[in-house]
Amino acid sequence: MNKKITIAIDGFSSTGKSTLAKQLANHLGYVFVDTGAMYRAITLFAMQNGYIGAENFDKESLIKSLPAIRLQFRYSPELGLAEMYINDVNVENEIRTIEVSSFVSKIATIAEVRAKLVEQQQEMGKDKGIVMDGRDIGTVVFPDAELKIFMTASATTRAQRRYDELKQKEDAITYEEVLKNVEERDYIDTHRDNSPLVIAEDAIEIDNSHLTREEQFEIVLGLINEVAKTE
Ligand code: DC
Repeated sequence: MNKKITIAIDGFSSTGKSTLAKQLANHLGYVFVDTGAMYRAITLFAMQNGYIGAENFDKESLIKSLPAIRLQFRYSPELGLAEMYINDVNVENEIRTIEVSSFVSKIATIAEVRAKLVEQQQEMGKDKGIVMDGRDIGTVVFPDAELKIFMTASATTRAQRRYDELKQKEDAITYEEVLKNVEERDYIDTHRDNSPLVIAEDAIEIDNSHLTREEQFEIVLGLINEVAKTE
């Protein structure tokens, strides 16, 4: 395929959106952007500055600080992937903890946060040739994307996957804790006023509860070939 397209991958948490997006970007020679990492980075910044915690949520101070937060993805040749930086500090590991996961959906409800990140995402995709994953990519960030995928899987399947992943880094974590977090985030992500997680009218839904990574990849490659025929 010669003409570069935009591929939007949305869906619930822990449906393997980033895994699929990375596979596709490698295969096609496209740029891959995990927008969840950007919401996680703002959340980490809010936690580090005491704007959000178990008992407080100082939205106004965070909004005031937004212009001073510079987010960047920097490619690590050793790891073969892009890592998240906040104001030149590598935060790739810190943004993946369960603590960040427990606050991120709240931070993602803030209109000013979304506006800042959407603007940056649109800028990254302006030349197409991009695979971006998140919650509002096909609906808000790139409503004209040539291919939109919406990924789903049962909450228990997703919690098990997340648990297996987290268990390697955080010993104290329990499956029940992870399932609760997955369900809470599903609820907040689908019920927020600003850009809630909804399936775009022209998105293709893939339930991967019973699909392997390879099967899912082949299905989506088939869809990309279909799109290429009409472009
Ligand atoms: O994909 P993830 O689980 O790393 O995303 C973390 C959170 O960020 C998720 O619970 C909702 C929010 N998010 C969002 O609101 N919009 C996006 N485009 C990406 C993520």
